[in-house]
Amino acid sequence: MTFTIHQTDPQSQARTGTLTTDHGPIQTPIFMPVGTAGTVKAVHQRELEHDINAEIILGNTYHLYLRPGLDILSQAGGLHRFNGWQRPILTDSGGYQVYSLSNTRKIKEEGVTFKSHIDGSAHIFTPEGVMDIQRTIGADIIMAFDECTPYPCEYDYARRSMDMTHRWLQRCITRFDETQGHYGYRQVLFPIVQGSTYTDLRRQSAEVVASHGREGNAIGGLAVGEPAEQMYEMIAIVNEILPADKPRYLMGVGTPANILEAIALGVDMFDCVMPTRNARHGILFTTEGVINIKNEKWRNDFSPIDAALGGYASTQYSRAYLRHLIRSEEILGAQIASLHNLTFYLWLVREARQHIAAGDYNSWKNDMTTRLMKRL
Ligand code: GUN
Repeated sequence: MTFTIHQTDPQSQARTGTLTTDHGPIQTPIFMPVGTAGTVKAVHQRELEHDINAEIILGNTYHLYLRPGLDILSQAGGLHRFNGWQRPILTDSGGYQVYSLSNTRKIKEEGVTFKSHIDGSAHIFTPEGVMDIQRTIGADIIMAFDECTPYPCEYDYARRSMDMTHRWLQRCITRFDETQGHYGYRQVLFPIVQGSTYTDLRRQSAEVVASHGREGNAIGGLAVGEPAEQMYEMIAIVNEILPADKPRYLMGVGTPANILEAIALGVDMFDCVMPTRNARHGILFTTEGVINIKNEKWRNDFSPIDAALGGYASTQYSRAYLRHLIRSEEILGAQIASLHNLTFYLWLVREARQHIAAGDYNSWKNDMTTRLMKRL
């Protein structure tokens, strides 16, 4: 994997670049649609490629390991072959999902024992096991196994958890480096910075992560309920330490405003369920602001969802029609809304790249943030 930086913004830490994997290039800053179970919910691969032009999607170790399971993924020849997506894939390690989804979980030095949210069966995730699982899933970028601390979090817990995440990271690296991909292309491992909302812990964690010299680095444990200002403060501190010539990935973030602010702080990669999950609940992001399509207000609005955005879903269907579909819980409603919201998120990062290149990123960001967060 190579990462080339093209432009840096003179007024902020924002930059544009290209991340090249064996499954193709990714223009950064990038938003990665979340495809938890090997599918970006309600969106076809064809739409992801041709309508949205997604350059990379996410998968989740936790979900894919439980279902369809490693035997099927291995027989298929990896996730790319299984779901027919030939562009890059990143898998999260389960270091987040196992805490938020599984029923009972116990965190120990060895790893995390948990019960499946599907059938209650007992499992253990260890750093070594999670590397082997992600080798078998076959993502281009795989994530270290970590503990994402909740918010708020006592200092002592945050420190002990971070220290364990660092020990787990060493175990991940040892296992990853002594194994190879199964399918003939290269995989890379990104470590994850933790440290909750404590500046000294964040600095320490960023130093440890940077010292491993991997091809890219991630920031975890944010957007878990802390105020946005505190999240930005943590990102700024961490990004002073993470190497500038490697991609930086902010996990699980966020709103359009969060993304634009984090880009200004030097973040290159984002993922979040927000565009797809909100879409299924009728919350739409548009170039004029946020719409709740279920509101009475849109009942007889026959204008396109977002004419200015362009793209198939956003221009082909009216607000009134989408309101009807979402209120009737029609499958097509979730499809159109998801396609629209992802079109918006990919448009947002494309615009960001253009404004970084043009040298006016900061002023564009400030105008955009006010506009995009308006409730229509
Ligand atoms: N997704 C969002 N936050 C996190 C995190 O802290 N760790 C992992 N592994 N995934 C995340």
